[in-house]
Amino acid sequence: DTVAWDAEDAEKSGYDHYMLKEIHEQPSSLRQCLRGRIDELEGTVDLPELEAIDHDGPIQFVACGTSYHAALFGAERLRTSGVDAHAFLASEYASDRVPVDEDTLVVGVTQSGETADTLRALREADRAGATTLAVTNTVASSAARECDHTLYIRAGPEIGVAATKTFASQQLALALLAFELGDEPTRGELEALRDIPGQVQTVLETTDARAVAETFVDADAYFFVGRGYHYPVALEGALKMKEITYRHAEGFAAGELKHGPLALVTERTPVFAVVTGDGETARKTIGNVKEVEARDAPVVAITDGTSDVARYADHVLEIPAVDDLGASVLANVQLQLVAYWVANLLGRSIDKPRNLAKSVTVE
Ligand code: G6P
Repeated sequence: DTVAWDAEDAEKSGYDHYMLKEIHEQPSSLRQCLRGRIDELEGTVDLPELEAIDHDGPIQFVACGTSYHAALFGAERLRTSGVDAHAFLASEYASDRVPVDEDTLVVGVTQSGETADTLRALREADRAGATTLAVTNTVASSAARECDHTLYIRAGPEIGVAATKTFASQQLALALLAFELGDEPTRGELEALRDIPGQVQTVLETTDARAVAETFVDADAYFFVGRGYHYPVALEGALKMKEITYRHAEGFAAGELKHGPLALVTERTPVFAVVTGDGETARKTIGNVKEVEARDAPVVAITDGTSDVARYADHVLEIPAVDDLGASVLANVQLQLVAYWVANLLGRSIDKPRNLAKSVTVE
């Protein structure tokens, strides 16, 4: 007698899908990203691979898909240090339309290191004289080989087509990069980064994402809003939802809702709002949440509970109270799980969604 044994099931270590396994791997993959890179005694970030970059000019990010959302996050982070940083969709990046020269650092954010649009943008930047840096998960990938410098995100292999743990690791790697290229970290900032993996674990252990997914599995569409660091998270939340549920989903900058998208909002379109802290950013997003609530749309607040947003929300997905940068990592984990459970309830092919490929090597 032989016992039926399926190698793929064994590799999913008990999870129904690689995507869920990879979502749950995030505490350890994020620790791996940080390992040896934060010196708390010295109060420094240690990235020897970037030491040779002597750069104080503008920074341009080029990326596609989920990696583009990480690039938006990275650019936002660098701008808070006063660095002139912008993110471009690699497919729209062209050196004759974007000012790029010897003073520019062009950062390609690409999990696979093989995305054709991103490689083309990096090659064009290189021809224009820019310094190039690959932020990638894949050792010896084309991006890593061709760029002047490489920063590995160390997320480990990702099998699910929908990127999850690699996005979180891109966020942390870009936060580290900002300390190398922007202001020196404070002790508090280093501790905040170090604590993120454990806080992700807390989210995984306490999440109500499955119940929220059950409530909204029959929605007409899903909208996501956020400001600042939470804007790329809104875009990423919508992309995950589209990719694996095949349902209509859109992410918006919270302030843009009133400039058009509000016309789409009904009682059958839940709006997921990321609101953390109780400062100016939170206050403004809560204002937008009220506009949505007044149109009878269900609101799901992803919040740390420090503001009163829950008062205007039908459901709350709670995350630990941390700074906005860390909160964007934690909020994204909640949205990954909502997308996963909606797709699961719909019986979708979660690890291999229709029409999509893990790595796209054509322009
Ligand atoms: C494909 C994948 C996406 C990914 C994008 C960029 O479209 O389906 O999940 O975000 O490529 O991939 P990269 O390897 O460059 O990060």
